[in-house]
This record gives sequence, C-alpha cells and structure tokens, in this order.
Amino acid sequence: MTTRYRVEYALKTHRRDQFIEWVKGLLAVPFVLYSEPTGVFGDGSSVRDMAAEAHRRYAEIMRDVELMIDDHMTRQGQDNAFPSKLGMLVPTAGPFFTRLPLEAAFKYQDRKRYISSRRYVAPSFNDVRLVLNSAQIMAVTGGALQLATFDGDVTLYDDGQSLEPSNPVVPRLLGGAVSDQLQDLLRKNIKIGIVTAAGYTTADRYYERLHGLLDAIAEAPDLDPIQKHNIVIMGGEDNYLFEFSPSSPHRLAPVPRERWLTPEMATWSEADITALLDVAEAALRDCVRTMNLPATILRKDRAVGIVPRDPEVRIARESLEETVLVVQRILEASALGFVANSTTNTTSPNSSSSNTHRRAVSNTTRPKVPFCAFNGGRDVFVDIGDKSWGVTVCQQWFGAGPGRSIKGENTLHVGDQFLSAGANDFKARSVGTTAWIASPAETVELLDELADLMQKKLS
Ligand code: IMP
Ligand code: MG
Repeated sequence: MTTRYRVEYALKTHRRDQFIEWVKGLLAVPFVLYSEPTGVFGDGSSVRDMAAEAHRRYAEIMRDVELMIDDHMTRQGQDNAFPSKLGMLVPTAGPFFTRLPLEAAFKYQDRKRYISSRRYVAPSFNDVRLVLNSAQIMAVTGGALQLATFDGDVTLYDDGQSLEPSNPVVPRLLGGAVSDQLQDLLRKNIKIGIVTAAGYTTADRYYERLHGLLDAIAEAPDLDPIQKHNIVIMGGEDNYLFEFSPSSPHRLAPVPRERWLTPEMATWSEADITALLDVAEAALRDCVRTMNLPATILRKDRAVGIVPRDPEVRIARESLEETVLVVQRILEASALGFVANSTTNTTSPNSSSSNTHRRAVSNTTRPKVPFCAFNGGRDVFVDIGDKSWGVTVCQQWFGAGPGRSIKGENTLHVGDQFLSAGANDFKARSVGTTAWIASPAETVELLDELADLMQKKLS
C-alpha cells in the first residue's frame, strides 16, 4: 500500500460519499455567485430576491442531475454500454433502482430548511443527503413500496439503547411516533424487516431491545393476524431470523436457517466461517495490542468484535476506523473472505445485476464467505455476511413464492451507516433503495414524510 494510496483512500475516500460531494460542489457555484453576504438587515426585498434567484438556480441544477440519472439508468446493466456522463463524472455512482425526482425533492426540503435563504452557509452535505432521501421517498410511494427494512442502533433508537421508556429518545417513539408509524406501514400491508447487526441467538435478547414495538404490534386491535406477521427481525446482519409470534412470551419465534437461507448463503460452510472468524479474531487482537486499546475481544458463533473493557470508556474514533481497515485488508488478503460489491450511490443496482456481480466475483476470486467489518461507534465487529444478504432474505421471505422475491425498486432500507468502508448499512444499497438518516428523530421525520406522501397520492 503506497503512501499516496493511504492518503487518498484510507484517510479520505471511506469518509466521503462521492455522489453527495459532487452534488454539493455543483450547488456551491450558484451559492458563491448569487448569495448576498453584504446585504443589510431590514433590506428585506433584496434578500427575498436573492433567495428566489438562488432557489431557481439550485432547482435547475437538481433537475439537471435528475436527467443525468435518467440517462445513467438507461445504460446501467448493459454489459458493453458506453459509460454514462454521470458514470464519468462520479465513477463510484452505481446503477439506480428508481428514478429520483430531485427537483421536486429539493423544493420540498427548501420549504423546510430555507436552504436558498442562507447567505453565509452553502448547501451542505446534510442538505443534499436529505434531498436525496425525499426524492427516494417520493419515488417509492404511489404503490411501489412493498418492503421497508430498518437498521436498529441510531435508526430506531440511540446507539446501544432499546425501544424502552427509560431511553431518553424512546418516550417519543413509545408515545406514538415510530411504533405508530410502523404499525401504519403494516396497516397498509407493507412488510417490515428490522435488519440489525446486533447478533443474538435467542428471542429474549431481541425482545429486550425491541419490546416497545413488538408489544404495540401484538396489542394493536386494528391489525389482522396476517398483518401482524408482516414483520421479521433479521439479526447479526443476515444470521438469525425471527418471525412475529404474538402468543410466545417474547413475541418472536426463531426460524430455522434451512427455511430462509438463500442458495448462495447455503454454500457458506461452517468450517470456512470458523476459519474466517479465527483470522479476524487474530487481527483484532493485534490491533488491541499495537494500539493499546482499552478493549476486549467478543467472539460469537457468527461474529467477532472488540468492545470497550469498561462501558464508560470510549475507544477513539481513529482507533476504531484503523481497526476496521486493518481487519478488512487482512481478511481480503487471506483469501478466506470477500467484501461483496461496493457502490457509493444513494440508491443502488437492481437485485438481479448485483446477484450477477456476486456470481462473477465468486468465479474469478473463488471467495468463500462474505463478511462485513464495521465501526459501530463504540465497538468494531466483523460479521458473517452483511446487510445486503439480510435485506435479500427479507425480500425472499415476503416474496410470493420461490423466484418471486420483492424487488429492489419495491424495497426501502433506512439506516445510519452509509460511508463506503466501516459502515454496515452501506451494503444494503446493492439490493434495494435506501434512505440515510442521522438520528432516530430523522427516522420519525422520514416516516412522517412517507405517510404524508402516501396519503396524498391515495387521495
Ligand atoms: P445496528 O446499527 O442495528 O446494525 O447495530 C450495530 C450495533 O450492534 C453495533 O454497533 C454493536 O454495538 C451491536 N452488536 C451487538 N452484537 C453484534 C454482533 O454480533 N455483530 C455486530 N454488531 C453487534
Ligand atoms: Mg445503525
């Protein structure tokens, strides 16, 4: 690994979303040209004029990007097609599942965030991220959405917390916000998967984390038994499936692997899984030693991680990221594991093309077991498989029979970890559309937006 490579990739690229950065760069031009930082207070009309002009320019740019994505979509999936203009400008932009109404989404977010009225702060990464989320929500409403999958930590509850009243964030959720809205999705016959890295073998541990939601569904008088069964928990990224079971003490029943493993997952042998986790564990131990981390190793049957020795002590973010990158490199070099196809766009390749890609990878490098090494904020875990497999299992579970899985364009995964390395929701981009939120409160807003749009499109 050259120094240049380390600077360009290891130290920078994995902490950037190139597509979002590119859009942000385009919006910076009208900001620089049309913002009026010298305007004085009380000069209302010139500030309003400036905002109107900035709004028009920003909206035009979003419209242009929207059309570029349309063009990109006509070429994606064609083997020998000349690359699209977008593909040339942002080489990491993968194929998209749905078109994205970016102009309309920008106008919606501008009404909420007053982006065009700002004179000192240019359109930011978060502005663009939220515009992309709105565009994706607009694209899947109107009948397309069949499956919504949610990450757990940071998406439904604060990191390491649970859906329970003692959590400072959760009262709002229990007060009706998230649990009500999720019930609302079920009421609309949309299937739900909670796809979390948290890997437990038994139902009681998931009940502990999710009981606020599970109890609310069990007790909802207006959900019929079929609707109540339209939720599954997929734990350990893709390793443990639980179906809803209102009569069992923990509201959940484990589903044996032979009922849900995809044919590709069924080829991952126990011996290869153990060998991969052994190499990962040795690499983690090395990191703990060389960086003198206040951490201990946690080995599970489908994962291995480092967690703080004292829950009160935080391991430095830089050390966690270094650990992820070291372990990832060692595993890739070991020929025991492989990281499935990576993309950095906000939406993602359709499921058939990503499956084709997986097969192509397996033919050329003969990978044994895919894995996901990620920085969980306070810990680092290496899990067998990743969320692309977890979401795929949900698509297959709720699909209408063999070979009729729910498609990527009918799936929305909501998560907080979408940077290209050391983030686990990122992998879901290869099998469905995605929304990138930054907190449980943003998830609530996103669900409000979704419900609102569905209602409008219905009426
Ligand atoms: P997620 O955000 O719901 O995907 O959960 C990620 C968090 O789950 C990690 O940051 C860990 O703290 C925790 N966790 C617990 N068990 C596991 C495991 O087996 N693998 C990965 N993460 C785990
Ligand atoms: Mg998370």
